[in-house]
Amino acid sequence: MGYDRRKFISFLGKAGIGVVVAPPLLSSCGNTTTPSKPEALAEVYLTKLKEVVLKNLAPSDKDDLLLTEGLEYHTIIKWGDPISNSDTFGFNNDFTCFIPLDKNNPKDGLLWVNHEYINPLFVSDFDYRAYENPSKHRTVEQVDKEMYAVGGTIVRIKETNGKWEIVKNDPLNRRITAQTPIQLNWDSPIKGATTVKGTLANCSGGITPWNTFITCEENYDGFFGEIEYEENNKEKHRTGWYGWEQFYNYPPEHYGWVVEIDPKTGAAQKHIALGRFAHECCTLFELKDKRVVAYTGDDKNNEHLYKFISSKPGSLKEGTLYVADTINGKWLPLDWENQPILKEKFKDQTEVLIRAREVSKLLGATELNRPEDIEIDPVTGNILVTLTNNKEKNDFHGSIMKIEESNGAFDALTFKASTYIAGGEENGFSCPDNLAFDLSGNLWMTTDMSGSSMNKEDKPYMPFKNNGLFLIPRYGKDAGKVIRVASAPRDAELTGPWFSPDGKTLFLSVQHPGEQTKDIKNPTSTWPFDEDNIPKSAVVAIQGDLIEKMNKLSELETE
Ligand code: FEO
Ligand code: CA
Ligand code: CA
Repeated sequence: MGYDRRKFISFLGKAGIGVVVAPPLLSSCGNTTTPSKPEALAEVYLTKLKEVVLKNLAPSDKDDLLLTEGLEYHTIIKWGDPISNSDTFGFNNDFTCFIPLDKNNPKDGLLWVNHEYINPLFVSDFDYRAYENPSKHRTVEQVDKEMYAVGGTIVRIKETNGKWEIVKNDPLNRRITAQTPIQLNWDSPIKGATTVKGTLANCSGGITPWNTFITCEENYDGFFGEIEYEENNKEKHRTGWYGWEQFYNYPPEHYGWVVEIDPKTGAAQKHIALGRFAHECCTLFELKDKRVVAYTGDDKNNEHLYKFISSKPGSLKEGTLYVADTINGKWLPLDWENQPILKEKFKDQTEVLIRAREVSKLLGATELNRPEDIEIDPVTGNILVTLTNNKEKNDFHGSIMKIEESNGAFDALTFKASTYIAGGEENGFSCPDNLAFDLSGNLWMTTDMSGSSMNKEDKPYMPFKNNGLFLIPRYGKDAGKVIRVASAPRDAELTGPWFSPDGKTLFLSVQHPGEQTKDIKNPTSTWPFDEDNIPKSAVVAIQGDLIEKMNKLSELETE
């Protein structure tokens, strides 16, 4: 199907809320909205809009969430907050996604939040630094606490007088953890199971055209380890950094998948057809005939970008997984049945999907510099992929890659790849991670320089100071510039940007503040400055005049 802006907007409008703009319910791993065509704006307002000067926040190493002029925030939920009488919000929140309960009310709905990983010092009172072989010095009680703190949260939230608050004890509030039973959406069992235990390493995600949440398992090998294969194809179990495999005998092959969650029932399934690797996110697009295209990347040095094209409407099982050769602009099928080179080494399609990384290398896919978030530009239909960095290859600041599918068709098997923008001092950002488009098609971007590299004299990240949130306007006098609009607390990254259906609130995760803490009594951050005096990841709501003005910017083009 060719890219068709009207179709795109109507897809967005399906879950619409009928105000001046279409809602941000494009299936995506960050958030994508469509350019608004609001009622004609008063001349005087347009003139003012032209004069909007976006203030570029200076890089800062302050332990606070700083916002540029025209933005303000309040905290919605933080680690440990009760969502019900039996459940609490998990650790290290990443991807967020909001679905209104009633499409006519953008201010009341379900928030999904990923919980990516844990810091045992805070979660299970275990200091890894005290032991040479830390995973041998644990108790099952400690591991149970850690398993509870990852996965995801569903919590109902409402906005009243401009303030978002959780609805505690709402019957739809629930936790999905590393112990929640999850079905495999596949015909063959994996390591003998058709239902597995839990989800973990949940980094970014997306939303389906049928309005369910997508959560992606990224660095899964840190928890139960990984199965590696020796020359003779003999399996070897590399242990996980957290060493959970010493307490629970869950096979590593049960992790590293794209997971779908039903918002109302919490029912979960893992989509095997989308392959197994360190999935950062999964961005879905529904074609005219209701077949689905899903883009997903493997965030590891020298790994790959993938796309699944379904052969049946609404299916994430029937179809073909492809991997990108970005040099020749080809999508290469991971298809055991029709690829003799795969038949020679692997026993069936299930094994091909489990060992997708090895398969991609055999097929000649292009090694990329850690693909992170993927968004579809709502104006051009181009696909943007952040390549965060690859220090081994001296790419310290990363870039954003642009994919243009042939004839603008998302199910095309050829494309053109180019660099959209590069990180570095000239553009003022380093290590791009999550992306989101607002209602006018302006691009918002977060960065993820690692806590161990930031603000260090001997590292190339010094000029950027703390991680941030950046805005690249599409229209107006600042079009194309990269403007820092938020600065994260110490050691934190900002993740999971997602606009509310009316476009007025940007939900954002503040993840792992104080991650470099060695002594809990003397943490490197105390954000969000509550009575416990320790750092806590939290989801905030960012609002203000700046967002409202940016949403209207496309009007400048229609004069
Ligand atoms: Fe969890 Fe690729 O960031
Ligand atoms: Ca990420
Ligand atoms: Ca990252």
